[in-house]
Amino acid sequence: MAEKFTRATFSRSFLKSITKIKAPDEMLAEAKEQGLEKTLGVWDLIILGVGAIIGSGIFAVVGIAAAGSADGSSLGAGPALVVSMIIAAIACIFSALCYSEFATMIPVAGGAYTYTFATLGEFAAWMVGWVLMLEYAIGFIAVACAWSNHFVQFLSGFSNVLPAWLANPPAWLTNDVFTLGNLAANDASIYVPKLFGIVPVAINLPAIVIVLLMTAILVKGTKDSAKMAGLMVVIKLAVIALFVIAGAFFVTPENWTPFAPNGGAGIFAGAFLIFFAYIGFDALATAAEECKNPQKDLPIGIIGSLLITTVVYVLVALVLTGMQDTSAPVSLDFLKAPMAYCMAMTGKSWATYASYFISIGSLAGLTSVLLVLEMAATRILFAMSRDHFISQKFQQLDKKYKTPALLTWTVGLLAVVGILTLNLDVAAELCNYGTFTSFIIVCVAVLILRHTDPNRPRPFKVPFSPWIPIMGIVSCGGLMVYKSLEAGSSALLFPVWLGVGAIIYLLYGYIKNRINENRVHKEMVHMFEKQDEI
Ligand code: ALA
Repeated sequence: MAEKFTRATFSRSFLKSITKIKAPDEMLAEAKEQGLEKTLGVWDLIILGVGAIIGSGIFAVVGIAAAGSADGSSLGAGPALVVSMIIAAIACIFSALCYSEFATMIPVAGGAYTYTFATLGEFAAWMVGWVLMLEYAIGFIAVACAWSNHFVQFLSGFSNVLPAWLANPPAWLTNDVFTLGNLAANDASIYVPKLFGIVPVAINLPAIVIVLLMTAILVKGTKDSAKMAGLMVVIKLAVIALFVIAGAFFVTPENWTPFAPNGGAGIFAGAFLIFFAYIGFDALATAAEECKNPQKDLPIGIIGSLLITTVVYVLVALVLTGMQDTSAPVSLDFLKAPMAYCMAMTGKSWATYASYFISIGSLAGLTSVLLVLEMAATRILFAMSRDHFISQKFQQLDKKYKTPALLTWTVGLLAVVGILTLNLDVAAELCNYGTFTSFIIVCVAVLILRHTDPNRPRPFKVPFSPWIPIMGIVSCGGLMVYKSLEAGSSALLFPVWLGVGAIIYLLYGYIKNRINENRVHKEMVHMFEKQDEI
């Protein structure tokens, strides 16, 4: 009986601990006491938002989403890409509205992780933080490798000017070990160095260099990072404007028929793919603590950057599908770099230069995406350190720059380890799973907090609640299920990632939090005893 009682008591106390929520007021008080410097205004937020969103999605993935050859060789949307763009944007707008409600209500670092702690409790918060590392940290690694590919492609365009070793660097210095293995399997002339004559070695040097550079810039300060993102945003928007304006003169309206060669299936396949191009607006919520006026500026930043991006994407989709017949089979070059390819195909003398500009634009685009993804990863870990899920040392701010320098360098160096060891195709897919999960959780959390804390001031309220959050859950959940039904290893790896996260929580986060609770309890008892003595 006694044993039964002990087990029941333990189960109750365990359940109570893991579902313990952290009150929003406690979060706000902590942020006020030991928070980050407030430097970001509304324009900084819009720039960071556009900087985070426009990247490899519109410069590369868009080609695959558009290719909709009716002979079944490609299953994309064809000219109906514009509809896919709008569907993906609507799915994101539902989540963006939910993010805005939370970000203005609890403007502290951490984004979806913080909102989960306020609604679903300790264990769910840890798991969301862990899943967000897929979106931001693993996404950071994947985009760094995409940057490296674009950079190598850009250098190869200067083979007449640059020395051969730079214009065409050895494959083992520009790829991860898995990609190098695949390349070498198809081309016996590719050299693969071997450690002790057995272990193949590959160092993706451009990816490592860009990661370390981004880390150094972030350590120097959020304001400087926003300035740098601003420069990149101007370059990439100028390049996209060049494509849309110059390309409009080469649009052949016949290319827009048939409008949807693969019907609804092609449109939804395109929407799923192009969803990746919109990822990033949520990263703004993680920087809420650094906003000068989060209540007013954050909804404008989040929704404004998403709307600007949607307009840009729709224009690109119209011009691209007007220049290239996407209902017929397309070339590999169109799939890899569709804008540069369409420009080159105009056959004009200036087309080569236009293609170079587009390559520079894609590099700028990817650079700003990298900056914001790394910033988001560090801000979530900062909040998790505050909550005793990871070492308290990570809260230390650099004396000169007032940024979490130790944490930022740790993330940067772990990303280098990731570049050296991960299969990056799988990493990119895992990044999508992390994003869908965090969007769904934020929509759920809005509904829960409306119910549990209806009177809390909400400077921004999601309109038509509960329908908008429900539509956010359905649209993101639908895309995630659709993806999981496809054959591929990442669908299985996602539960593995969740399982590893749960084990780390039980072995470290759970214990650390209980030790902290005991310490706080003892301190309070001591304080009351002293008061009694007085
Ligand atoms: N939206 C970002 C991109 O397209 C992730 O690169």
